[in-house]
Amino acid sequence: MTKVLIATVKPFAKAAVDQIKITLDKAGYESEFFEKYASQDDLIEAVADADAMIVRSDKITEEVIAAAKKLKIVVRAGAGFDNVNLEAASANDVVVMNTPGQNSNAVAELALGMMVFQARNHFNGTSGSELKGKKLGIQAYGNVGRLVANIAKGFGMEIYAYDPFIARETMEAEKVNVCETVEELYSVSDYLSLHIPANDKTKKSINYDLLSKMKDGAVLVNTARKEVIDEDGLAKIMEEKTNFKYVSDIAPGNRLALEEKFEGRVFFTPKKMGAQTAEANINAGIAAAKQIIAYLEKGVATFKVN
Ligand code: 3PG
Repeated sequence: MTKVLIATVKPFAKAAVDQIKITLDKAGYESEFFEKYASQDDLIEAVADADAMIVRSDKITEEVIAAAKKLKIVVRAGAGFDNVNLEAASANDVVVMNTPGQNSNAVAELALGMMVFQARNHFNGTSGSELKGKKLGIQAYGNVGRLVANIAKGFGMEIYAYDPFIARETMEAEKVNVCETVEELYSVSDYLSLHIPANDKTKKSINYDLLSKMKDGAVLVNTARKEVIDEDGLAKIMEEKTNFKYVSDIAPGNRLALEEKFEGRVFFTPKKMGAQTAEANINAGIAAAKQIIAYLEKGVATFKVN
């Protein structure tokens, strides 16, 4: 029997677990939910007899791939696949896929929620400000960036975006002001929402030079990845621009120092929760299960990333 290991240190919502199981049951597959595991060693042990895996931000390292002797496919139920060692997977003929778009709305809603939270001084009872009329810069106009733009239009924000991979006409057709350079985007924005992936080109790319282009009162919102921020550069900007704010769904390494020094100007969720909704879990989880079945039964490799 084909065995699918659903390895989620941060488990899916119960409704999603039920539906993933039903989907795999119907295909005649066995499903094992390996949740909240304590260590990578436990994961390495659990993958031994898996033919397929569904994961979230779980670290699928070279060691995990090497231990999974029967593994044919890993589907990252989500967008970013920087947690999977693609080279090791390819070297072992393991296909890796993601499920783009399936959890985007949840992330987009959180981005706007974090903007409101910061605009209203962390709901501390003091007089804050409104999003209406403010300029929102969106770095990367993909599935999430586009949804952020749509929701923000409802708040009456002016939308700007920078994305060298999306045609200017596409953004203009959606009433988005297109920036020619990333520097232009940072200069114009009152709020800047990050939606870039973490890869060799983007890691630490949000650095001192770029952040120094921002207005003193600007708010940087990160629901993307911790790794894209140059944390030393960020700390320096926080010192220099005394009204600059940073809210993030992924706590930085220097979290405690930032929280202590810049109280009220920084906020970090306790755990990455952009995709932590029942809807997002159901969408991404079922898509992942269906992609595994389609690949193993018919060789369909849509959304293969390696
Ligand atoms: C993604 O890349 O899809 C998001 O960051 C969600 O990550 P998570 O599944 O670990 O919540």
